[in-house]
Amino acid sequence: MNFDVHAVPSPSYVVDEGLLIKNLEKLKSVADRTGCKILLAQKGFSMFAVYPLISKYLDGVTSSGILEAKLGYEEMGKEVHTYAPAFSDADFEEILSYSDHIVFNSFQQWNKFKERVKNHPKKIECGIRINPEYSEIEVDMYNPCFTHSRFGVTLDNFEPDQLDGIDGFHFHTMCEQNSDTLERTLQVIEEKFGKYLHQMKWLNFGGGHHITRPDYDIETLERSVLYMKNKYDVDVYLEPGEAVALNTGFLVATVMDTLYNGMDIAILDTSASCHMPDVLEMPYRPEIIGAGLPNEKAYTYRFGGPTCLAGDVIGDYSFDQPLQPGDKLVFCDMAHYSMVKNNTFNGINLPSIVLNTLNDGPKVIKQFGYDDFKNRLS
Ligand SMILES: Cc1ncc(COP(=O)(O)O)c(C=O)c1O
Repeated sequence: MNFDVHAVPSPSYVVDEGLLIKNLEKLKSVADRTGCKILLAQKGFSMFAVYPLISKYLDGVTSSGILEAKLGYEEMGKEVHTYAPAFSDADFEEILSYSDHIVFNSFQQWNKFKERVKNHPKKIECGIRINPEYSEIEVDMYNPCFTHSRFGVTLDNFEPDQLDGIDGFHFHTMCEQNSDTLERTLQVIEEKFGKYLHQMKWLNFGGGHHITRPDYDIETLERSVLYMKNKYDVDVYLEPGEAVALNTGFLVATVMDTLYNGMDIAILDTSASCHMPDVLEMPYRPEIIGAGLPNEKAYTYRFGGPTCLAGDVIGDYSFDQPLQPGDKLVFCDMAHYSMVKNNTFNGINLPSIVLNTLNDGPKVIKQFGYDDFKNRLS
């Protein structure tokens, strides 16, 4: 972290341009060496102020529906891919206008919309999401292949006679995983769907590739991409969200009060429930710069948010000195799945969005207030 915490509003998400560029360079190097295309999964990170920067390194965006597709189309201006578990009649015309690729979740959806795709003046490539029923994700909440999953076509439901007009397959079965998982997944994809892949123009490997993590095995990823490209003569797409913004952002917060109830407690101006919901959903314990595990340092505190939710607890952290109201805290790795998931429960304001620019330090991109809270409610 190389900015002054007192120079940014509290709370605020601070995305570091230099760290983001490092991730983007790594991703681009994979694309350059293998010829694959890499898209930003906007569901993970949609801070469009940095889309012009991202567009210098990546090939476009992937979208979960009409609003993300429009955002990517307007703000990135490169390839726009759209996949949703189901498309609505009302949204589809507009989705067509933004999208270069549309991936359908079932043959029923494909049959419903294929004439509209064909009749559209722009050439739009279509894909089917396949479900290989193989995933190494252990938490059901995050496993797109869990029993009775709604995501993608399983081999049992596959309809080879409906492939006319289908240009590619898409799978998404990973979450924060290394490339050994990808390699094993591809073996299952080949066993189950390999014979149909020869007819395809592209294969989209989805997201969940933790490419920018220090211990990620890039060589195995590149070998896997090249293997599929060469064997099936397909273009390969990767659509990471998390890996684009991994370890590039911080959430700066302030201690508002301290109290004692069987242990020391600090109330912060940031909330797990409102500002970092994955802390409760995953759940996980975010790192705080300078803090230790509970009891590792002399003073341990439980950090709670300013909401009424009893479980709005971020975690227990220890410090060398007692905390005082006004002290700043810096939570790490807060760029992805934070801004895109936050909310104003209890009327808690949203954190500001700050870009720590390479040359000029922190620049406030956006501050929120009453209107943002009110406009969602009536
Ligand atoms: C279809 C699809 N593509 C891409 C992603 C991005 O995944 P990640 O942010 O883990 O890379 C997701 C995440 O849920 C997804 O569902």
